Amino acid sequence: IRQQALAELQQASSTTALAEWHGRYLGRRGELTQLMRRISQVPPEERPAYGQAVNALKEELTARFEQREAEVKRSELSQRLAAEAVDVTLPGRPADVAGLHPVTQMIREVTTIFNHLGFQTVEGPEVEYGYYAFDALNIPQDHPARDVWDTIFIVSDQKEIVLRPHTSPMQIRTMERRQPPVRVVVPGRCYRFEAVDATHEWHFHQIEGLAVDEHITMADLKGTLAEFARQLFGQERKVRFRCDYFPFVEPGVDFAIDCMFCRGEGCRVCKGTGWIEILGAGMVHPQVLRNVGYDPERYTGWAFGMGVERLVMLKYGVPDIRLFYQGDLRFLAQFNRAL
Ligand code: PHE
Repeated sequence: IRQQALAELQQASSTTALAEWHGRYLGRRGELTQLMRRISQVPPEERPAYGQAVNALKEELTARFEQREAEVKRSELSQRLAAEAVDVTLPGRPADVAGLHPVTQMIREVTTIFNHLGFQTVEGPEVEYGYYAFDALNIPQDHPARDVWDTIFIVSDQKEIVLRPHTSPMQIRTMERRQPPVRVVVPGRCYRFEAVDATHEWHFHQIEGLAVDEHITMADLKGTLAEFARQLFGQERKVRFRCDYFPFVEPGVDFAIDCMFCRGEGCRVCKGTGWIEILGAGMVHPQVLRNVGYDPERYTGWAFGMGVERLVMLKYGVPDIRLFYQGDLRFLAQFNRAL
Protein backbone atom coordinates (compact mmCIF):
# COMPACT_ATOMS: atom_id res chain seq x y z
CA ILE A 1 0.00 0.00 0.00
CA ARG A 2 2.74 2.39 0.95
CA GLN A 3 4.53 2.02 -2.36
CA GLN A 4 1.37 2.42 -4.38
CA ALA A 5 0.11 5.34 -2.33
CA LEU A 6 3.37 7.23 -2.67
CA ALA A 7 3.59 6.54 -6.40
CA GLU A 8 0.05 7.76 -6.94
CA LEU A 9 0.68 10.80 -4.81
CA GLN A 10 3.58 11.70 -7.06
CA GLN A 11 1.30 11.34 -10.10
CA ALA A 12 -1.39 13.60 -8.66
CA SER A 13 -0.58 16.97 -10.17
CA SER A 14 -3.75 18.93 -9.64
CA THR A 15 -5.75 19.99 -6.65
CA THR A 16 -8.62 17.74 -7.71
CA ALA A 17 -6.36 14.71 -8.22
CA LEU A 18 -4.91 15.34 -4.75
CA ALA A 19 -8.35 15.51 -3.19
CA GLU A 20 -9.22 12.16 -4.81
CA TRP A 21 -5.98 10.64 -3.54
CA HIS A 22 -6.70 11.92 -0.04
CA GLY A 23 -10.14 10.32 -0.09
CA ARG A 24 -8.74 7.04 -1.37
CA TYR A 25 -6.05 6.65 1.33
CA LEU A 26 -6.70 8.94 4.25
CA GLY A 27 -10.45 9.52 4.00
CA ARG A 28 -13.10 8.04 6.27
CA ARG A 29 -13.54 5.10 3.92
CA GLY A 30 -9.94 5.13 2.77
CA GLU A 31 -7.39 2.35 2.76
CA LEU A 32 -5.85 3.39 6.05
CA THR A 33 -9.15 3.38 7.92
CA GLN A 34 -9.82 -0.08 6.55
CA LEU A 35 -6.38 -1.30 7.66
CA MET A 36 -7.11 -0.01 11.14
CA ARG A 37 -10.44 -1.87 11.21
CA ARG A 38 -8.75 -5.11 10.26
CA ILE A 39 -6.83 -5.00 13.55
CA SER A 40 -9.52 -7.26 15.03
CA GLN A 41 -8.39 -10.01 12.68
CA VAL A 42 -4.80 -9.69 13.83
CA PRO A 43 -3.67 -12.06 16.61
CA PRO A 44 -3.76 -10.16 19.95
CA GLU A 45 0.01 -10.29 20.49
CA GLU A 46 0.70 -8.70 17.15
CA ARG A 47 -1.87 -5.94 17.56
CA PRO A 48 0.35 -3.28 19.19
CA ALA A 49 2.97 -3.64 16.47
CA TYR A 50 0.30 -3.69 13.76
CA GLY A 51 -1.37 -0.60 15.21
CA GLN A 52 1.92 1.24 15.42
CA ALA A 53 2.80 0.34 11.87
CA VAL A 54 -0.52 1.54 10.53
CA ASN A 55 -0.31 4.78 12.53
CA ALA A 56 3.23 5.37 11.35
CA LEU A 57 2.11 4.83 7.76
CA LYS A 58 -0.80 7.18 8.28
CA GLU A 59 1.48 9.86 9.66
CA GLU A 60 3.93 9.41 6.84
CA LEU A 61 1.24 9.58 4.19
CA THR A 62 -0.30 12.65 5.83
CA ALA A 63 3.06 14.38 5.92
CA ARG A 64 3.83 13.46 2.31
CA PHE A 65 0.36 14.57 1.28
CA GLU A 66 0.82 18.02 2.81
CA GLN A 67 4.20 18.33 1.17
CA ARG A 68 2.82 17.32 -2.22
CA GLU A 69 -0.19 19.59 -1.78
CA ALA A 70 2.07 22.58 -1.17
CA GLU A 71 4.10 21.64 -4.26
CA VAL A 72 1.03 21.32 -6.50
CA LYS A 73 -0.43 24.60 -5.24
CA ARG A 74 2.80 26.37 -5.96
CA SER A 75 3.03 25.04 -9.49
CA GLU A 76 -0.65 25.73 -10.17
CA LEU A 77 -0.13 29.31 -9.03
CA SER A 78 2.93 29.85 -11.18
CA GLN A 79 1.09 28.36 -14.18
CA ARG A 80 -1.80 30.74 -13.61
CA LEU A 81 0.54 33.71 -13.24
CA ALA A 82 2.28 32.78 -16.49
CA ALA A 83 -1.05 32.39 -18.30
CA GLU A 84 -2.47 35.64 -17.03
CA ALA A 85 0.70 37.63 -17.38
CA VAL A 86 0.31 41.09 -18.94
CA ASP A 87 3.13 42.38 -21.08
CA VAL A 88 3.19 46.00 -20.04
CA THR A 89 5.71 46.80 -22.76
CA LEU A 90 3.26 45.94 -25.62
CA PRO A 91 2.02 48.98 -27.52
CA GLY A 92 -1.59 49.77 -26.61
CA ARG A 93 -4.51 48.94 -28.86
CA PRO A 94 -5.92 52.20 -30.22
CA ALA A 95 -9.35 53.00 -28.84
CA ASP A 96 -12.14 54.01 -31.21
CA VAL A 97 -12.40 57.77 -31.06
CA ALA A 98 -15.19 59.85 -32.49
CA GLY A 99 -14.37 62.65 -34.92
CA LEU A 100 -16.02 65.70 -36.40
CA HIS A 101 -18.11 65.29 -39.54
CA PRO A 102 -16.37 66.71 -42.64
CA VAL A 103 -19.17 69.26 -43.02
CA THR A 104 -18.64 70.44 -39.46
CA GLN A 105 -14.91 70.64 -40.08
CA MET A 106 -15.44 72.69 -43.25
CA ILE A 107 -17.87 75.04 -41.50
CA ARG A 108 -15.26 75.64 -38.82
CA GLU A 109 -12.48 76.14 -41.33
CA VAL A 110 -14.46 78.63 -43.43
CA THR A 111 -15.97 80.58 -40.55
CA THR A 112 -12.51 80.78 -38.94
CA ILE A 113 -11.06 82.31 -42.10
CA PHE A 114 -13.83 84.92 -42.13
CA ASN A 115 -13.59 85.49 -38.37
CA HIS A 116 -9.96 86.44 -38.92
CA LEU A 117 -11.11 88.86 -41.63
CA GLY A 118 -13.41 90.53 -39.10
CA PHE A 119 -16.68 88.65 -39.63
CA GLN A 120 -18.74 87.47 -36.68
CA THR A 121 -20.41 84.05 -36.84
CA VAL A 122 -24.18 84.11 -36.29
CA GLU A 123 -26.89 81.49 -36.77
CA GLY A 124 -30.59 81.56 -37.49
CA PRO A 125 -33.72 79.42 -37.72
CA GLU A 126 -34.04 76.51 -40.15
CA VAL A 127 -37.82 76.82 -40.07
CA GLU A 128 -38.34 80.25 -41.56
CA TYR A 129 -41.08 82.66 -42.57
CA GLY A 130 -41.65 83.12 -46.29
CA TYR A 131 -41.10 86.80 -45.62
CA TYR A 132 -37.44 86.28 -44.62
CA ALA A 133 -36.76 83.46 -47.09
CA PHE A 134 -38.20 85.39 -50.07
CA ASP A 135 -40.19 88.63 -49.80
CA ALA A 136 -37.69 90.69 -47.84
CA LEU A 137 -34.99 89.38 -50.20
CA ASN A 138 -36.74 91.03 -53.11
CA ILE A 139 -38.40 87.81 -54.29
CA PRO A 140 -42.10 88.67 -54.01
CA GLN A 141 -44.91 86.10 -54.13
CA ASP A 142 -45.28 86.09 -57.93
CA HIS A 143 -41.62 86.52 -58.81
CA PRO A 144 -40.52 83.97 -61.40
CA ALA A 145 -37.21 83.40 -59.54
CA ARG A 146 -39.12 82.26 -56.47
CA ASP A 147 -39.25 78.69 -57.71
CA VAL A 148 -35.51 78.61 -58.38
CA TRP A 149 -35.45 77.65 -54.69
CA ASP A 150 -37.42 74.42 -54.70
CA THR A 151 -38.90 74.98 -51.34
CA ILE A 152 -40.27 72.58 -48.75
CA PHE A 153 -43.35 74.26 -47.28
CA ILE A 154 -44.55 73.79 -43.71
CA VAL A 155 -47.47 76.23 -43.96
CA SER A 156 -48.46 77.72 -47.32
CA ASP A 157 -51.22 80.21 -46.33
CA GLN A 158 -50.70 83.96 -46.34
CA LYS A 159 -48.12 83.68 -43.59
CA GLU A 160 -45.90 81.13 -45.28
CA ILE A 161 -43.58 78.96 -43.19
CA VAL A 162 -40.83 77.02 -44.99
CA LEU A 163 -37.72 75.01 -44.37
CA ARG A 164 -35.21 77.61 -45.48
CA PRO A 165 -33.83 76.82 -48.94
CA HIS A 166 -30.79 79.05 -48.36
CA THR A 167 -29.12 80.97 -45.52
CA SER A 168 -29.91 84.36 -47.07
CA PRO A 169 -32.88 85.04 -44.72
CA MET A 170 -30.23 85.71 -42.08
CA GLN A 171 -29.13 88.75 -44.09
CA ILE A 172 -32.51 90.28 -43.27
CA ARG A 173 -32.64 89.11 -39.66
CA THR A 174 -29.15 90.44 -39.02
CA MET A 175 -29.76 93.86 -40.59
CA GLU A 176 -33.12 94.20 -38.79
CA ARG A 177 -31.32 93.83 -35.46
CA ARG A 178 -28.13 95.79 -36.12
CA GLN A 179 -26.93 99.04 -37.56
CA PRO A 180 -23.88 99.17 -39.88
CA PRO A 181 -21.10 98.29 -39.85
CA VAL A 182 -22.32 94.73 -40.30
CA ARG A 183 -19.93 91.89 -40.99
CA VAL A 184 -21.29 88.38 -40.37
CA VAL A 185 -20.96 84.81 -41.63
CA VAL A 186 -23.88 82.43 -41.21
CA PRO A 187 -23.38 78.67 -41.38
CA GLY A 188 -26.46 76.47 -41.34
CA ARG A 189 -28.62 73.69 -42.68
CA CYS A 190 -30.79 74.28 -45.71
CA TYR A 191 -33.50 72.20 -47.37
CA ARG A 192 -34.77 71.93 -50.91
CA PHE A 193 -37.57 69.93 -52.50
CA GLU A 194 -35.23 68.24 -54.92
CA ALA A 195 -34.51 64.86 -56.47
CA VAL A 196 -31.39 63.46 -54.84
CA ASP A 197 -28.43 62.60 -57.06
CA ALA A 198 -24.62 62.74 -56.95
CA THR A 199 -24.60 66.55 -56.70
CA HIS A 200 -27.98 67.32 -55.07
CA GLU A 201 -29.29 66.55 -51.63
CA TRP A 202 -32.65 67.70 -50.25
CA HIS A 203 -30.77 68.61 -47.08
CA PHE A 204 -27.38 70.39 -47.16
CA HIS A 205 -25.43 73.27 -45.64
CA GLN A 206 -24.62 76.79 -46.71
CA ILE A 207 -22.46 79.58 -45.39
CA GLU A 208 -23.75 83.07 -45.97
CA GLY A 209 -21.64 86.20 -45.74
CA LEU A 210 -22.76 89.81 -45.40
CA ALA A 211 -20.85 93.09 -45.15
CA VAL A 212 -22.65 96.43 -45.03
CA ASP A 213 -21.23 99.83 -44.22
CA GLU A 214 -20.57 103.21 -45.79
CA HIS A 215 -18.31 102.99 -48.86
CA ILE A 216 -18.37 99.21 -49.25
CA THR A 217 -17.57 98.32 -52.83
CA MET A 218 -17.35 95.39 -55.18
CA ALA A 219 -13.56 95.65 -54.89
CA ASP A 220 -13.87 94.71 -51.21
CA LEU A 221 -15.98 91.73 -52.22
CA LYS A 222 -13.43 90.62 -54.76
CA GLY A 223 -10.50 91.02 -52.39
CA THR A 224 -12.26 89.27 -49.53
CA LEU A 225 -13.36 86.29 -51.63
CA ALA A 226 -9.94 85.97 -53.27
CA GLU A 227 -8.28 85.91 -49.87
CA PHE A 228 -10.80 83.34 -48.64
CA ALA A 229 -10.32 81.11 -51.70
CA ARG A 230 -6.55 81.21 -51.33
CA GLN A 231 -6.64 80.34 -47.65
CA LEU A 232 -8.98 77.42 -48.30
CA PHE A 233 -7.74 76.08 -51.62
CA GLY A 234 -4.11 77.23 -51.81
CA GLN A 235 -2.21 80.51 -52.15
CA GLU A 236 -1.67 79.94 -55.88
CA ARG A 237 -5.44 80.08 -56.69
CA LYS A 238 -6.62 82.37 -59.46
CA VAL A 239 -10.11 83.75 -59.12
CA ARG A 240 -12.83 84.74 -61.59
CA PHE A 241 -15.99 86.81 -61.31
CA ARG A 242 -18.79 86.51 -63.83
CA CYS A 243 -22.24 88.04 -64.05
CA ASP A 244 -25.05 86.06 -62.50
CA TYR A 245 -28.53 86.81 -61.31
CA PHE A 246 -30.02 86.67 -57.82
CA PRO A 247 -33.00 88.93 -57.02
CA PHE A 248 -31.43 90.21 -53.77
CA VAL A 249 -28.16 91.46 -55.28
CA GLU A 250 -27.34 93.89 -58.07
CA PRO A 251 -25.03 93.30 -59.73
CA GLY A 252 -24.92 89.58 -59.02
CA VAL A 253 -21.87 87.42 -59.69
CA ASP A 254 -20.69 83.89 -59.60
CA PHE A 255 -17.27 83.39 -58.12
CA ALA A 256 -14.91 80.73 -59.45
CA ILE A 257 -11.41 79.48 -58.75
CA ASP A 258 -9.04 77.93 -61.26
CA CYS A 259 -9.30 74.16 -61.31
CA MET A 260 -6.73 72.48 -59.08
CA PHE A 261 -7.56 69.04 -60.44
CA CYS A 262 -7.21 70.13 -64.03
CA ARG A 263 -6.17 67.57 -66.59
CA GLY A 264 -7.25 69.86 -69.41
CA GLU A 265 -9.86 68.62 -71.86
CA GLY A 266 -10.72 65.49 -69.93
CA CYS A 267 -10.95 67.10 -66.48
CA ARG A 268 -14.10 65.86 -64.83
CA VAL A 269 -14.20 68.44 -62.03
CA CYS A 270 -14.24 71.57 -64.22
CA LYS A 271 -15.51 69.88 -67.38
CA GLY A 272 -12.43 71.12 -69.17
CA THR A 273 -13.24 74.80 -68.60
CA GLY A 274 -10.40 75.32 -66.13
CA TRP A 275 -12.77 77.03 -63.65
CA ILE A 276 -14.82 75.80 -60.71
CA GLU A 277 -17.73 77.91 -59.45
CA ILE A 278 -17.77 77.93 -55.69
CA LEU A 279 -20.34 80.54 -54.69
CA GLY A 280 -22.89 83.18 -55.62
CA ALA A 281 -22.48 86.79 -54.52
CA GLY A 282 -23.22 90.40 -55.33
CA MET A 283 -23.91 93.90 -54.08
CA VAL A 284 -26.90 93.95 -51.73
CA HIS A 285 -29.91 95.21 -53.71
CA PRO A 286 -31.04 98.71 -52.67
CA GLN A 287 -34.56 97.33 -52.19
CA VAL A 288 -33.26 94.81 -49.66
CA LEU A 289 -31.55 97.64 -47.75
CA ARG A 290 -34.81 99.57 -47.80
CA ASN A 291 -36.72 96.50 -46.58
CA VAL A 292 -34.66 96.49 -43.37
CA GLY A 293 -34.80 100.27 -42.93
CA TYR A 294 -31.27 101.04 -44.12
CA ASP A 295 -30.71 104.13 -46.26
CA PRO A 296 -29.33 102.86 -49.60
CA GLU A 297 -27.97 106.35 -50.31
CA ARG A 298 -25.74 106.08 -47.29
CA TYR A 299 -24.98 102.36 -47.04
CA THR A 300 -23.82 99.77 -49.50
CA GLY A 301 -22.89 96.17 -48.97
CA TRP A 302 -22.35 92.78 -50.45
CA ALA A 303 -23.36 89.25 -49.71
CA PHE A 304 -22.32 85.78 -50.72
CA GLY A 305 -23.59 82.26 -50.21
CA MET A 306 -21.84 78.92 -50.71
CA GLY A 307 -22.63 75.22 -50.37
CA VAL A 308 -20.53 73.53 -47.70
CA GLU A 309 -20.76 69.95 -49.01
CA ARG A 310 -19.63 71.21 -52.39
CA LEU A 311 -16.55 72.81 -50.84
CA VAL A 312 -15.63 69.53 -49.16
CA MET A 313 -16.20 67.64 -52.41
CA LEU A 314 -13.92 70.04 -54.29
CA LYS A 315 -11.21 70.17 -51.67
CA TYR A 316 -11.01 66.41 -51.12
CA GLY A 317 -12.31 65.03 -54.42
CA VAL A 318 -15.50 63.49 -53.00
CA PRO A 319 -17.48 62.27 -56.03
CA ASP A 320 -20.98 61.95 -54.53
CA ILE A 321 -22.81 64.26 -52.11
CA ARG A 322 -24.91 61.35 -50.81
CA LEU A 323 -21.83 60.01 -48.99
CA PHE A 324 -22.16 62.79 -46.41
CA TYR A 325 -25.38 61.47 -44.91
CA GLN A 326 -25.05 57.70 -45.15
CA GLY A 327 -23.11 57.40 -41.90
CA ASP A 328 -20.53 55.12 -43.52
CA LEU A 329 -17.49 55.19 -41.26
CA ARG A 330 -15.18 54.11 -44.09
CA PHE A 331 -15.98 57.49 -45.64
CA LEU A 332 -16.21 59.61 -42.50
CA ALA A 333 -13.06 58.21 -40.83
CA GLN A 334 -10.94 59.47 -43.70
CA PHE A 335 -11.55 63.00 -42.47
CA ASN A 336 -10.20 62.14 -39.02
CA ARG A 337 -6.81 60.61 -39.80
CA ALA A 338 -5.12 62.72 -37.13
CA LEU A 339 -7.21 60.96 -34.51
N1 PHE B 1 -28.72 82.41 -51.59
C1 PHE B 1 -28.13 82.10 -52.86
C2 PHE B 1 -28.39 80.65 -53.20
O1 PHE B 1 -28.82 79.90 -52.36
C3 PHE B 1 -26.65 82.37 -52.87
C4 PHE B 1 -26.32 83.83 -52.74
C5 PHE B 1 -26.14 84.39 -51.48
C6 PHE B 1 -26.20 84.60 -53.85
C7 PHE B 1 -25.85 85.72 -51.37
C8 PHE B 1 -25.87 85.95 -53.75
C9 PHE B 1 -25.71 86.51 -52.49
O2 PHE B 1 -28.22 80.24 -54.30
